[in-house]
Amino acid sequence: MFCLLLLMLLLLCVRGAFQTDPVLLFVCGRRGGNVTLPCQSELREITALSFERTSGNIPLCETEEGCSGRARKRGTCDVLITDLIFSDAGRYSALIYHRDDESELQRVMRTYHLQVHEERLAEAGRPLELEVLLAGADQVQHQDESGSERKQIWRRNTRIQKDGVEIRDERLIISSFTAADAGEYTVLEDDGEMLISVSVRASEETLKEAGNKITILHKVLGNYARAATDLVHWSLSYNFKSTNRKLPADGITED
Ligand SMILES: *[C@@H]1O[C@H](CO)[C@@H](O)[C@H](O)[C@H]1NC(C)=O
Repeated sequence: MFCLLLLMLLLLCVRGAFQTDPVLLFVCGRRGGNVTLPCQSELREITALSFERTSGNIPLCETEEGCSGRARKRGTCDVLITDLIFSDAGRYSALIYHRDDESELQRVMRTYHLQVHEERLAEAGRPLELEVLLAGADQVQHQDESGSERKQIWRRNTRIQKDGVEIRDERLIISSFTAADAGEYTVLEDDGEMLISVSVRASEETLKEAGNKITILHKVLGNYARAATDLVHWSLSYNFKSTNRKLPADGITED
């Protein structure tokens, strides 16, 4: 099920894949997993590959051995990022230096937008901490499991915030999780592009508890309903009796 979802996400993510340069290629990966940023190159004779983000150059390992970083060169000019973390989300560029047919040195640039996805289980009554308020995050939206409209629950530099939601150390914390907090949390950049998405499901216990609460509520309501019906019956019969008693009297005064 999750694989299918991820596959669908991947298909959605790898947009613009087969257009001509320059193109922003959308790629997504799972937190803790690996992702490949494909250079999709028919280029031969690649002489150098430089990989960077706005924060600076990212060293690439050429081989597995002794690789301490999380970015590796794969194949001719693909880049593999391992063990994805939320803060990997964002923009990257790769500069590929190669020799063309005339043996001239050329430079080609590839740009990527990496999205990081996670699936999570949460328990009722416990805090749910989403470590997603990274430097590039502009807003967080929540869509519940019924697939209703996305609601903004946090926005940088404004006070839009949901009740029961706290902000601490780049974390968005739902103080006490309920089944209604399940669904999809998406973190967007200021240009509206998605950086992170977290799908939160309520744990089995949470659902069972919610089910129990509904059963209890039904019982309570059932009891109220019975009590109310009894009251109505009682007051009707009381009124009926009293009216019955009053009728002859009224009749008498009217005569
Ligand atoms: C990610 O890539 C590294 C390096 O190639 C490999 O050791 C690891 O098993 C991969 N992890 C997954 C989840 O595929």
